[in-house]
Amino acid sequence: MAIKTSRLLDVYPQLDFEPVSGHGVHLKCSDGREILDLYGGHAVACLGFGHPRVVETLAQQAETLTFQTNAVPLAVRERAASRLASLSPDGLDQIFFVNSGAEANENALRLAFLGGGGRRHHVVSVEHGFHGRTAAAGAVSFGSEKWYAFPQPPFPVRFIPRNETAGLEEAIDDDTAAVIVEPVQGMAGAFDLETPFLAALRERCDATGATLIFDEVQCGVGRTGYGFACEGVGVQPDIVTTAKSLAAGFPVGAVLMSDDVADRAFKGSLGTTFGGGPMACALVETVIDTIESEGLLAHVKKVSDHIRERCVVGPVERIQGAGFLLGLVCNIPAKDVRDALLAQDILVGTSSDPNVIRLMPPLILPEAHVDELAEKLSACAV
Ligand SMILES: Cc1ncc(COP(=O)(O)O)c(C=O)c1O
Repeated sequence: MAIKTSRLLDVYPQLDFEPVSGHGVHLKCSDGREILDLYGGHAVACLGFGHPRVVETLAQQAETLTFQTNAVPLAVRERAASRLASLSPDGLDQIFFVNSGAEANENALRLAFLGGGGRRHHVVSVEHGFHGRTAAAGAVSFGSEKWYAFPQPPFPVRFIPRNETAGLEEAIDDDTAAVIVEPVQGMAGAFDLETPFLAALRERCDATGATLIFDEVQCGVGRTGYGFACEGVGVQPDIVTTAKSLAAGFPVGAVLMSDDVADRAFKGSLGTTFGGGPMACALVETVIDTIESEGLLAHVKKVSDHIRERCVVGPVERIQGAGFLLGLVCNIPAKDVRDALLAQDILVGTSSDPNVIRLMPPLILPEAHVDELAEKLSACAV
């Protein structure tokens, strides 16, 4: 048996490099290597590494007030909520801050059941979707039986096939509390669901009174070239959940909801100790300000188009997804492509689709790096 020296629980497969610092879109490793990061720490590092505004916000807020709870009003929390509401489509103006994507989904599902008043019993989720590892978020994640471990889910879940509108009448009925869906399925390989399918989910939710939840934990906060992906597809959910990019690396999540959904909450119905803390909120404000002041939505759209034009090369047969959440569909195993790129100092991600490489670069990625990716992909044909 190998001797174990680390005290960290061994649950994550590890890549073979150790980043010690980051600047812009590059990581510097302990052996001196420089790696172009097109994975962004699972889509978290939206402003790259060492962005001056992030560094300044952290320092300023740490000097001013590191923490206070939700039991007291905070101007920085109010400002963060207003900025977030301004980034989302009109009508999703009420915000509940949490700490992670799973916690955002857990609370979104609770709000859906609160709306059902005890008369709705199940949730509809989409095949291949991933929503997190907590009890309710795990229950609505496709394939979670492999790791779920709890004796039973908190409610029955009906999984529906992607992009199939036939059968929605049976699946979504008066007993459905919520339909939860990622408009662009991240873990599944940046699989962008078709607009008619998302619109049909909206229609069935309207017909039955079920709550439509868009999980934008991965695809939200500018990643698709829109504030939120729902705007890009023109389908308005009742709730949007988000996290990852929202504070550029500081843990935070949020539930954005309509006034109707907000009316279901009462004092004591939802809560969290750390959610909405001043450090996280100061960064939320800065991230959204920076997305707007640096014109990052337009930048993401432009560079994403360039990736689509240049990167169907080497093992890549086609590209799916939106903005900077892209899936490169390969004719060889994605893991081999990931390893071949890493050997050339470019970091990309894999996905639950064994043939899809995932790109989730910082929103600030300069266009010049697309050509570098294309060249190195061409050299990857194994
Ligand atoms: C779409 C989506 N929802 C929820 C989650 C869970 O987020 P967290 O790991 O912050 O709990 C993830 C994480 O990858 C995700 O991609």
